[in-house]
Amino acid sequence: MYQKILLTGINGQVGHSLQVALQASQFPTELIALDRTQLDLANAEQIREVVRTIQPDLIINPAAYTAVDKAESEYDLAYSINAIAPGILAEEAARLNAKLIHFSTDYVYNGRKLEAYQEDDATQPLSVYGKTKLAGEEAIRPVGIPHLIFRTAWVYGAYGKNFMKTILRLASEQETLYIVADQMGTPTSSNAIAEAMMQILQQGDFKVSGVYHLVNSGQASWFEFAQAIVEESNMLRQREGKTGLLVKHIQPISTDQYPTPARRPANSLLDTGKLLQDFDIEMPHWRESLIKELSSLHASNL
Ligand SMILES: NC(=O)c1ccc[n+]([C@@H]2O[C@H](COP(=O)([O-])OP(=O)(O)OC[C@H]3O[C@@H](n4cnc5c(N)ncnc54)[C@H](OP(=O)(O)O)[C@@H]3O)[C@@H](O)[C@H]2O)c1
Repeated sequence: MYQKILLTGINGQVGHSLQVALQASQFPTELIALDRTQLDLANAEQIREVVRTIQPDLIINPAAYTAVDKAESEYDLAYSINAIAPGILAEEAARLNAKLIHFSTDYVYNGRKLEAYQEDDATQPLSVYGKTKLAGEEAIRPVGIPHLIFRTAWVYGAYGKNFMKTILRLASEQETLYIVADQMGTPTSSNAIAEAMMQILQQGDFKVSGVYHLVNSGQASWFEFAQAIVEESNMLRQREGKTGLLVKHIQPISTDQYPTPARRPANSLLDTGKLLQDFDIEMPHWRESLIKELSSLHASNL
């Protein structure tokens, strides 16, 4: 078991879920959990200084520049946080004989494959965000330390800003929503990611290194995900004796009808067979995780 874990980006969705899970765990591990004000990944010197001071034996790095559309006009900042910083974390981990767990994205793929992606499929990011995240993976690899890179996708949860929260807000304001139906992926809750991560940590020192897909199971379009959010939320509201959300119709639209600065892959499906094979982890279905996230959101709003 690890003596000291350094966790970055604790105000993000995954960072927050990991911090809560690690604090609730029985691990005899010291946790140093830092937000952007305590460890700014855009500041190379600060990264080296903080890691050398803390001397962790495991670094977990969910922090990232995640503003996908804004990244198109902020290449340098996105590159320093997503590409340069992971390489520095790996180099500093090497000095300490420490390990690194890092997060990456489905946006490293071009989305043209007809089935779910495997970890060794060719990458071809369509966006600046995807390019910088891929460069981050590539910066870690040659350092040669034991590392795990988890490519996740469509992350949401009760905590943070995400698609589920946006749909709930829009569904309480508008009678009709228009949602993209030609991008497929797997909605993945930050808590499902954290639970998988805890199982991996419980298994002790990892003996393998490399890229793993880490998403809930099942698949959906954004349109289907929005429908499920409204359906499940209305069921919870009914149980609580509340009226349903205002929204009456959810209409499917195409990506062309919802232009964004960054291009997104049409197919974001990630095969998690390698995670099952190497870590014996079976991810829950996305709808099961959605119900959990909505329930905890409702509970916190009561
Ligand atoms: N969200 C998704 O749908 C998605 C999909 C695929 C992959 N991923 C990957 O999964 C990981 C976790 O994503 P997430 O959804 O948890 O992201 P998130 O909610 O956007 O959180 C990202 C965190 O990174 C922090 N951060 C940004 N710039 C930083 C800097 N210069 N120094 C230190 N921290 C900085 C942010 O700090 P502030 O809170 O101060 O802004 C935020 O807390 C990331 O690697 C992301 O690329 C996410």
